[in-house]
Amino acid sequence: MTNQVRLSTWASNIAPSPTLAVDAKAKELKSIGEDVCGFGAGEPDFDTPEFIKEACIKALSEGKTKYAPSAGIPALREALAEKYRNQNGADGVTAAQCIVSPGGKYSCYLAILAVISPGDEVIIPAPYWVSYPEMVKLAGGTPKTIFVGQEAGFKMNPEQLRAAITPKTRLVIFNSPSNPTGAVYSSLELQALTEVAIEAGIYIMSDEIYEYLLYDGVQHVSPASFSKEAADSVITVSGFSKTFSMTGWRLGTLMAPPAIAKAVASLQSQTSSNATTFAQYGALSAMENWDKSMSAVNAMIEVFDRRRLSLIKGLNAMKGFECAHAQGAFYLFPRIDKFGMSSADFSARILEEEKVAVVPGEGFGAPGYIRLSYATSDEVINKGLERLSRFSASLKE
Ligand SMILES: Cc1ncc(COP(=O)(O)O)c(C=O)c1O
Repeated sequence: MTNQVRLSTWASNIAPSPTLAVDAKAKELKSIGEDVCGFGAGEPDFDTPEFIKEACIKALSEGKTKYAPSAGIPALREALAEKYRNQNGADGVTAAQCIVSPGGKYSCYLAILAVISPGDEVIIPAPYWVSYPEMVKLAGGTPKTIFVGQEAGFKMNPEQLRAAITPKTRLVIFNSPSNPTGAVYSSLELQALTEVAIEAGIYIMSDEIYEYLLYDGVQHVSPASFSKEAADSVITVSGFSKTFSMTGWRLGTLMAPPAIAKAVASLQSQTSSNATTFAQYGALSAMENWDKSMSAVNAMIEVFDRRRLSLIKGLNAMKGFECAHAQGAFYLFPRIDKFGMSSADFSARILEEEKVAVVPGEGFGAPGYIRLSYATSDEVINKGLERLSRFSASLKE
């Protein structure tokens, strides 16, 4: 008798990550010798700063190879609380409110699991990071997206948020700087949105994983810092992956009001247990040597900034592309609907014909756009621009 596969509701409903799929396809083509220009990766093309690696190696040699407290090693939770108090204006935050998790992705998932029950609605401005709606569905919730295109600077406004709130709404997700658009909300914009959420009695999950990757002098603001009410309503998620080039380390963070932090700690203790023990010692050294960390980050930002400007200029010089002046993260999200085909078709064709890997907008809730990551070499950017230009010219004929 053949064993019939019967997947759960959760497994049947979940879509695989399209961004990881593009990256995997580009890597596969490269492995068979194809000269691929990869704009798909969501990770810095820099190595982790040496002193962070050394601290991890030291921890390994000292035998820090055992289980650690599930919510994170106390010194790292303490360092996170200090950072949120001193740098992000989250007055009075304690280590008990800060959790270290196995990746920013897992921080997001646990934040959602902690507040969403079956039937609850979660407001997600689109374009959104691909995983939010899937995580909401895994928690039994319903994602409600609000599309905000390039004309609106890819930013939701308070009226749109207010109009989307129903009695079932329990959470709204903010992500500034944004993946995939690179848009950064101003303090005033975030404040107005936060006030709407507080008035309606809903939680905010503020994903700030790109908080240090900013250009043109724009500033990052944490909604949890706005007021006592905000501190009680905001779950701040972040991680070490993007800022410190530590994507493979799998270290995320979460800061939440005490009762939510406690719930997240329980969820984590029953699902993943602690984030890798010796990796946390590397992260601790990044926090304890902040000046050193920031000089490594600033060196990376300088390179990203140069690439950002040349890519925006290059794209806007081609017919058919319309690229906004993104000021954060390391993504651009140009409009390509003038080419008269879906983003999925556009991306598949450009990979096939020109060996350029980009991520189609559909997975971000934004058909008509594609995402390009400039966390890639100058060589790839220059060569990629030539190929994109040739491709767009060929479509015009
Ligand atoms: C907006 C956003 N949040 C969270 C994450 C999760 O990062 P990680 O799990 O590597 O810490 C990512 C990674 O791409 C992201 O873009």
